[in-house]
Amino acid sequence: MLMFKWFVKHEAEKEIVSPNGQIKCFFYLKSGQIFYQVKKDERIVVDRSNLGFLLSGEDPLKNDLMLVREQKRKNQETIEMPWGEDRFINNNYNESAFYLAENKKSKRIFTIRVRVFNDGVAFRYEIPPQPKFSQITVKDELTEFNIDLNAVAWQIPAFEPDRYEYNYEKTLVYDLNRAVHTPLTIKTPNGCYLSIHEAALYNYGSMTIKPEENNILKSEITPLADQTKAHVVLPFQTPWRVIMLADSAIELTTNRMIYALNDPPKQDFSFVKTLKFIGIWWAMYVGEWTWAPGERHGATTEHAKEYIDAAVRLGISGLLIEGWNDGWEGDWLENGIHNSFIKSTPDFDLDEVARYAREKQIEIVGHHETVGFVDNYESQLEKAYNYYAERGVKYIKTGYAGSMMTINGHREYHHSQLGVNHYQKTVELAAKKHICLDIHEPIKGTGIERTWPNLLSREGARGQEYEGGALSPSHACILPYTRLLSGGMDYTSGIFDLENSVKRISTTLARQLAYFVTIYSGMQMAADRPAFYEKKFPDAFTFIKSVPTNFEKTIPLAGEIGEYYMVARKDADSNDWYIGGVTNETARNVYIKLDFLGQGSFETKIYRDSADAHYRDNQFGIVKEQKTLDQNDSLNIYMAPGGGFAIRLKYLG
Ligand code: NOJ
Ligand code: CA
Repeated sequence: MLMFKWFVKHEAEKEIVSPNGQIKCFFYLKSGQIFYQVKKDERIVVDRSNLGFLLSGEDPLKNDLMLVREQKRKNQETIEMPWGEDRFINNNYNESAFYLAENKKSKRIFTIRVRVFNDGVAFRYEIPPQPKFSQITVKDELTEFNIDLNAVAWQIPAFEPDRYEYNYEKTLVYDLNRAVHTPLTIKTPNGCYLSIHEAALYNYGSMTIKPEENNILKSEITPLADQTKAHVVLPFQTPWRVIMLADSAIELTTNRMIYALNDPPKQDFSFVKTLKFIGIWWAMYVGEWTWAPGERHGATTEHAKEYIDAAVRLGISGLLIEGWNDGWEGDWLENGIHNSFIKSTPDFDLDEVARYAREKQIEIVGHHETVGFVDNYESQLEKAYNYYAERGVKYIKTGYAGSMMTINGHREYHHSQLGVNHYQKTVELAAKKHICLDIHEPIKGTGIERTWPNLLSREGARGQEYEGGALSPSHACILPYTRLLSGGMDYTSGIFDLENSVKRISTTLARQLAYFVTIYSGMQMAADRPAFYEKKFPDAFTFIKSVPTNFEKTIPLAGEIGEYYMVARKDADSNDWYIGGVTNETARNVYIKLDFLGQGSFETKIYRDSADAHYRDNQFGIVKEQKTLDQNDSLNIYMAPGGGFAIRLKYLG
């Protein structure tokens, strides 16, 4: 239903209310300037915050404004996702579009579109073609997020060499003194949990958040090498600026606004299937094999066939093969500029490996490490995707190690407009070739998986590759409340070789199983070597084998940011349920009511930490229990320091 209101206003105070009435976004026009405010249950979450733009060669787009029209709309819809954590997502909101025009000679026009959901607020700028100009260069976006300075933020720095791969720091908003990435999760003194993020990031620099001199948080769009933020042709719309809202940390974890704010797919994606895979991978991390050719080369035809056989025995559907191509010799980070994505090393025959994989019904996950040399990669892109597609390889893991990208001969941030456009090019070309992607060193997720479901996973945070000293048990207890609000993550879970002298792991064994439930990924890697699954811990591996990569629904159970997290998920293809939990350095007993199970009884297998388990000196202390339970039952579970648990509830009828 559309309602038009024709008026011109020089002062305005408008209110957009969520369908359940609890969240309100106020839009103000005062003295020619526009700003907004957000309240939840009458508590101020975002106080008056300015909106506007600085454009190159133009006056700022923020003064002398008048409101020409307000257009209201209501949406009530359930979206069905092809895969993920929740099959059905609500897209219920009240919308107002505010059409603004300058009250001066230039008479430029633009629109602010606001949507208020039951769990947050989103708005974006829309700039139509203007009589006097058809393209703009954005010098700065002036969107503010005026948050209580006593609020607490969990943040990672932006514009640093390791991209998103940092440990989170917890600071007062008042003490924020650098640009940080989104999702930026914050707890306000009045008991609100919010996360500032963006949705539908296309053809624009990624938004980071930086305090201004007066400590108000402001959008800091990732710059291009020419120091501008974006060059765009009109009409143009910014990504949605999203403020997810909840009354508890655990409630925040299932916020799915970013998917609702993206468009439905425009092509047939029935070829997309989520995947669990092992890899010629961790053996390189622990130094047994190498990416580069030589005596200990990992990606040989022989090793690939052995791993394919292992995948068959383990009941895992895919195999990742890294280090198969030309470019890994010597300093691969430096030499990556010449990487070939078509030429194999002499000891690797993709034709033969692909043939063998097909015979054994194992999916090969191809690998493209670009080291951020986008010019080199794009010059081979079409050929490289064809090379895999012609051999039946339907999955590719891509990588952008390197602190910057090289695009059009310039050093650019991964998260700049040109970086964003490159990632998008790969996703769209892959879709055309019926290839699914798992992007490492990616652009952050902004819900575009709804439109491009062949983008099955990303890394985009510190993952298990940082184990061996640079990961603490609290990290995986922060991710569900921060990074994972932007979508699934390839955390490379399931390392069983916990005491390895090169890469010692800071978790218990039970917790490695828990990750398969607590960290969702449409492409989920069981990252250790097959021998550790088959020979050392076959019983624990049965959990990894059974856990799905596609869920019907997700029930957040309990948790606090950086302390612990527990979640239950129902399989998309059966009535089975899975529960996972992780804790930080602190041991804790948790209580789980199984009332979400629904009818029937469930054969329950629990993998939990033993009373003496510890992530430092007794990692293998694991207890397995089996019992039949139903929705009237509950569980008491102990999690050791750095530990966790994993539960499979198999539906009996
Ligand atoms: C970093 C990725 O995260 C990792 O998974 C990969 O093995 C290396 N780059 C090499 O491509
Ligand atoms: Ca990485």
